[in-house]
Amino acid sequence: MNVILMGPQGSGKGTQAGRIGPRLGLTQVATGELFRAAIAARTGLGRRIKDLYDRGDLVPDDLTIGLVEEKLDEIDRERDLGEGVGGALFDGFPRNREQAKALDAALARREQAITAVVRIDVPLAMLVARLAGRRVCKRCGAVYHVEFNPPRADGVCDRCGGEVVQREDDTAEAVTKRLEIYFKQTEPLLAYYEERGLVAAVDGDRPIEAVTEAIVAAITRHVPSANAAVSPTAGEQG
Ligand code: AP5
Ligand code: MG
Ligand code: ZN
Repeated sequence: MNVILMGPQGSGKGTQAGRIGPRLGLTQVATGELFRAAIAARTGLGRRIKDLYDRGDLVPDDLTIGLVEEKLDEIDRERDLGEGVGGALFDGFPRNREQAKALDAALARREQAITAVVRIDVPLAMLVARLAGRRVCKRCGAVYHVEFNPPRADGVCDRCGGEVVQREDDTAEAVTKRLEIYFKQTEPLLAYYEERGLVAAVDGDRPIEAVTEAIVAAITRHVPSANAAVSPTAGEQG
């Protein structure tokens, strides 16, 4: 089973992926998280992408796709070891047509496909309020909100005790740019998956727990059709 969580910045992809992954035995593949880790560790990749990331621009496709392929290999290895891994849960990937095609090809090479795409709907004004108040753990990436979901102790992560800070790309300018890129490049991908009957919409403007239940229900409904899913390249001849 391979599931994509799709929705604009602030719709709750990261929040929900952290709750749903363990529940359904899916390994989170969150490209934003991978990039933040590379930037924090000042790796070659991290240094190369830091300015792009801070401004809210997309990281080049070749770097992003390469990173996802590495994660898929890791998931395959864990599955082979019988570690109870049921597939991937994509958060923040794919974000444009190029990436969607590369993902289909990477899964096809592994004799797999996308099982379901969950679209998380949240009104624009609420997205902006969520991003303005978001805080994240510097150490483990746990997501908080100063008002909607604060850590128990101010500035301290509930999960690991790490420091809870604002993200570098949650400035007003970067948020505007990120949302613009989403509606221009990422949202149109929904049509690409709708053609294959893979999209389930969920109302994300509810308490975190209610959204989790709705997503789990949506994925579960889609699983029977997974076996019958057409091969992603089948419709492209001619
Ligand atoms: P990424 O890390 O993926 O960020 P994003 O797509 O901009 O999405 P967000 O993380 O902002 O939103 P989210 O939906 O995860 O919301 P969250 O759960 O945190 O990407 C960052 C950057 O990395 C990109 O700009 C780009 O530079 C690069 N990048 C990443 N992937 C890439 C790719 N594929 N290609 C190229 N470049 C890539 O929730 C938001 C807030 O709301 C939190 O405070 C949370 O506590 C709160 N909240 C969540 N749910 C609820 C609820 N139900 N009720 C109340 N509050 C809630
Ligand atoms: Mg996120
Ligand atoms: Zn933490």
